[in-house]
Amino acid sequence: MRRVFVIVLLHLFAKATAAPVIGRPKTLKPQAKPRVAVLPASAYLSPTYYLKSCPNLEGIIHRKVNAWVKKDYTIAPSIIRLHFHDCAVRGCDASILLNHPGSERAADASKSLRGFALIDEIKAEVERQCPKTVSCADILTAAARDTTVLAGGPFWEVPFGRKDGLVSLAKEANAVPQGHENITSLLSFFDKLGLTFVDLVVLSGSHTIGRSTCASVKQRLFNFKGTGKPDPTLDSKYSNLLKKQCRFDTTYVNLDATTPRTFDVAYYQNLGKKMGLLSTDQLLYSDSRTGSLVTLMATQPEFFSSQFAVSMVKVGNANVLTGKNQGEIRLNCNNVNH
Ligand code: HEM
Repeated sequence: MRRVFVIVLLHLFAKATAAPVIGRPKTLKPQAKPRVAVLPASAYLSPTYYLKSCPNLEGIIHRKVNAWVKKDYTIAPSIIRLHFHDCAVRGCDASILLNHPGSERAADASKSLRGFALIDEIKAEVERQCPKTVSCADILTAAARDTTVLAGGPFWEVPFGRKDGLVSLAKEANAVPQGHENITSLLSFFDKLGLTFVDLVVLSGSHTIGRSTCASVKQRLFNFKGTGKPDPTLDSKYSNLLKKQCRFDTTYVNLDATTPRTFDVAYYQNLGKKMGLLSTDQLLYSDSRTGSLVTLMATQPEFFSSQFAVSMVKVGNANVLTGKNQGEIRLNCNNVNH
């Protein structure tokens, strides 16, 4: 009896909430709906976006990046990572650069991000030459391309036209993967950015250069899952070396143990030798969804290089702001305009 009552109720509810049917004379043929192509926001980006409004833009960025990398090579991987952390939260909208309490930049997960001063210097010069024209998001994207090239990685054309966002929240930055996640959660994080398992494997390849603070790996070295021992998927000689190096949280260790300054496939080869620094790196090798691609990358430097360029364009297109009423061109990358 109760079941019948529920079914009747559901039926009535469905009727009450159904969209009204607008009658059409039966003799008339239904009209074809006009087709409106809905393009993704990234379709409005273009390598020639600033051709007229700021023709020297790429030259300015290139010169500044070059000068900084010459003085301090370690800035190159830091800019690549900064770009990823920007795109990973609210898309590539320079939200990571906003510098106020509670912003992404102030989050725990952003503590070891570097390179802000280089972006500020580029922005200041760009504002002198092309006032109120170029977004901080575009500057960061192009700087990541230039640092990749200087580190020995591939060149690609950067599509421009991103706007800068107005919102930046620390709690959102803390959702960016930090190295202790499983592959399922990495894949789902990447999926939200429009990225696939190929992009995950290929972009993680940027760990072929750069460093990590010991804070990010100490649990893996000293107390894996509360055992008081190192992670057993870590080569024992390698973990002993790391334990000696990692006396302080703030000490840096190389992400690629064998060729830390060269943009090559040694990162993937090391994973096959249980020498991935982050547990997420090592899991890429052992997980059935990503393992065969890691093994392939380890022997195919050309493929890695060309696919890296493709995946970097993809991450740079993630959830960008391009509409007339979206975002703004920030005058100073640290603050919104008003
Ligand atoms: C797949 C998920 C990823 C995880 C879990 C991850 C995690 C990390 C961690 C923990 C560090 C060291 C942070 C520290 O200093 O303590 C790091 C560094 C770095 N990451 Fe990732 N990362 C991921 C994806 C990416 C992607 C997609 C890129 C680039 C597109 C990237 C580029 C870098 C670079 C270049 C560094 C070195 C930074 C430096 O030397 O300053 N990472 N990453």
